[in-house]
Amino acid sequence: MRHTTLRQLEVFNAIVRHGSFTRAARELFLTQPTVSMQIKKLTDAVGLPLFEQIGKKLYPTDAGHLLYKFSCEIFDRFARFEMTIADMKGLKQGKLRLAVVTTAEYFIPLILGKFCQQYPGVDVSLKVSNRERVLQRMSENEDDLSIFGQPPEGVPTVAEPFLENPLVVVAPIDHPLAGRKAIPLERLAEQPMLAREAGSGTRMAVERLFAEHGLKMKVRMELGSNEALKQAVIGGLGISVLSRHTLPFETNEAKLTLLDVQGFPIERHWYVVYPAGKQLSVVAQAFRDSLLQGSRTLKYDKARNAGSSPQRSSARDSSGGIPLTRVSSR
Ligand code: PGA
Repeated sequence: MRHTTLRQLEVFNAIVRHGSFTRAARELFLTQPTVSMQIKKLTDAVGLPLFEQIGKKLYPTDAGHLLYKFSCEIFDRFARFEMTIADMKGLKQGKLRLAVVTTAEYFIPLILGKFCQQYPGVDVSLKVSNRERVLQRMSENEDDLSIFGQPPEGVPTVAEPFLENPLVVVAPIDHPLAGRKAIPLERLAEQPMLAREAGSGTRMAVERLFAEHGLKMKVRMELGSNEALKQAVIGGLGISVLSRHTLPFETNEAKLTLLDVQGFPIERHWYVVYPAGKQLSVVAQAFRDSLLQGSRTLKYDKARNAGSSPQRSSARDSSGGIPLTRVSSR
């Protein structure tokens, strides 16, 4: 094994990720015979087959799985070393692997944009999935940092809140409950609801509130996208609960109103999370710091929160994260 080269491990790693020799060769700008040759040498050094072909698909064997984990650790350490050296030279360079839950796509790209302007040497990969999938990625150590609407439970993590994330009740502007004050939760439970898919953090928070009051949602339709939910509400299919971040004050949103229901808004926060014991890279550390520092200058405007129509609020925040109001940090 001591004759194994980093290049061979790189080729092997790419094949596992792509499940294909051809795609790995393309990623690494190599010819397919070169890729095959590198894998033959690596297989000889290990002394066990690294892949098996089932049907048209290529799978790593047990030895392959082990080697994949090992190669990821090596490349991770290598990347950290490179970033530390770049940091010593006064540059922030390297890769930032970020996974965020679906709803965070409304503000994370903006924050990332500013971060990348500040550190042009940073390469970002951003994965957007629902809570369940982001949790799974975290358990497989696929990302540097994850963003959740609620810290994971039952797994040792470091979770730091950086921004408010209220969940509000959204209805079509002409809904009979529009404009009423302090609507009891029981009234909401009678209404047909449009809900996010199982596995969504938003869905989980709403179900928890209902369960605390011995109630159950009357789910009329499940949708996997916040935007699709808003359109369905506008279309009169039912009421929904959404993060306030999904409701920019755009013309279309003037067709929506927020209902003043008891127990709402559900006050939540956005958390930046990583597994306990994980050593953050220099770049991940810098991004985490910028999120936490940003939270001191970004504050949620509660006045806009409940029972108000989006169309009545005029200001569109320059951050694009609509419910955020920039306040002086003094
Ligand atoms: P979701 O998560 O986009 O998976 O619903 C958001 C949240 O937890 O607030």
